[in-house]
Amino acid sequence: MQKNIKLVFLWLLISASFKSFAQTDTTIYHEQYRPQVHFSPQAHWMNDPNGMVYYNGIYHLFFQYFPGGTTWGPMHWGHAESRDMIHWKQLPTALYPDSLGYIFSGSAVVDSNNTSGFGKNGKIPLVAIFTNHDPKGERAGRNDFQNESLAYSLDNGATWTKYSGNPVLKNPGIRDFRDPKVIWYAPEHKWIMTLATQDHITFYSSSNLKTWIKESEFGKQLGAHGGVWECPDLISLKLNGKTYWVLIMNVNPGGPNGGSATQYFVGHFNGNIFTPVDKEVKWVDYGPDEYAGVTWCNTGTRKIFLGWMSNWEYAGDVPTVKWRNAMTIPRELKLKNVNGKVLLSSEPVNELSSIYGKPHIFTNINLNKSVLLSDKVDDKAGPYLLKIKINQLKNFQVKLSNSKNEVLLIGYDSQKKQYYIDRTHSGKITFNKNFPGKFVAPRLVNFSSSDITILVDNSSVELFADNGLTVMSCVFFPNEFYRNLALSSIEGTIINSLKFVKLKSIWPR
Ligand code: FRU
Repeated sequence: MQKNIKLVFLWLLISASFKSFAQTDTTIYHEQYRPQVHFSPQAHWMNDPNGMVYYNGIYHLFFQYFPGGTTWGPMHWGHAESRDMIHWKQLPTALYPDSLGYIFSGSAVVDSNNTSGFGKNGKIPLVAIFTNHDPKGERAGRNDFQNESLAYSLDNGATWTKYSGNPVLKNPGIRDFRDPKVIWYAPEHKWIMTLATQDHITFYSSSNLKTWIKESEFGKQLGAHGGVWECPDLISLKLNGKTYWVLIMNVNPGGPNGGSATQYFVGHFNGNIFTPVDKEVKWVDYGPDEYAGVTWCNTGTRKIFLGWMSNWEYAGDVPTVKWRNAMTIPRELKLKNVNGKVLLSSEPVNELSSIYGKPHIFTNINLNKSVLLSDKVDDKAGPYLLKIKINQLKNFQVKLSNSKNEVLLIGYDSQKKQYYIDRTHSGKITFNKNFPGKFVAPRLVNFSSSDITILVDNSSVELFADNGLTVMSCVFFPNEFYRNLALSSIEGTIINSLKFVKLKSIWPR
């Protein structure tokens, strides 16, 4: 009996401790602030997406990774894979620093014709082209410490061998000489490398990925130059049957809302020279938290963009404990004609629908008084999607809040014709003076209706307005989940339809 009582007591103790563990929920991928529908590393520091390549039904994502801590350090390429760009599995680290330096950003290609000669026994090589950053050279005050190198994989990206002839492109004496993005330029059967070279782009070409010839330079006098140019990308997209080339160009600092951001140019590329169609500065994402965004290689005519959902101004200070920083949701890029201008739009990939829960659909919501949406839907904590259609776009605001009066505001200001996200009172904000603030983005169309998608995860919001023509990404860190979701308008806007879709976590429980 005595023994039984003891056993029952022990059981109670164990189950109570399990309960409190479950309540604080620190299990992997379910910690406080852990994105539930975005990729983040299990642990440690992550910045840029790298070497994104689609091959044999798998989307590979490599990323700037420091496995030794939660701040930036000697760079490796982390690795994750996915069949749908939504559910991810992190794999062993792919590339480690070597005698030529750290492994900075770059790209990966499928060398189907074995132009590099790395293929063996009929195996097609995946070839990674990356920057070797030599910290010793940097410390010594040299200018040629960044050089481009190769590694290849003959087992679908699982393991990588560095090329013995590295580096394949030597630095001519430019301090910032990095982030090669390589594509196959089919009309001339050659590879094109788009390289960030300080305040401009340099294009190189190659027949075998090992020897590179300089083709041209672009951009010294064009675009935003508030900081250094990094992580470029060159893609082709069609609009009404006509092919355009889009040059994506990350800049740090100098973004529209401060710090790092992604700009783009639309133009033509003839295998040697990029010629823009206009001189306007355009942004892929106006929010504070999308950077180093580039597209997946080998996805055919589909172009899918992924960015790092952070900003160099505070990426190393954000209050997550086990890991730092996440990626944006993958976004499908399209060209659109807006009042005679060719603009880029981006919207979440359709694959996101694989994690849709049951939608709640509302029609004709009159915002002449504030509407508490969270009363009408169950389980509003955690990730969800709002799809809003307004026939007569006027002022409106979406307010996420919690019992501690912490608020995140997302909306449209019809006087200023601007979308905005305001995280001034969003929770933890004091870890960096540049973190709090209201961020704005222009409305780029002038018709009255608007289609708006808002994707909310545990510590981020992404706004895709006017079918993805104005995009903003923004991270936040409330002390408690925002369980209240309210809509309001000072102009009595009518929301013609609203779909609230709960999203299922991509991580196993
Ligand atoms: C962009 C960047 C790249 C560089 C990498 C280093 O965020 O500065 O230019 O390759 O990060 O981690």
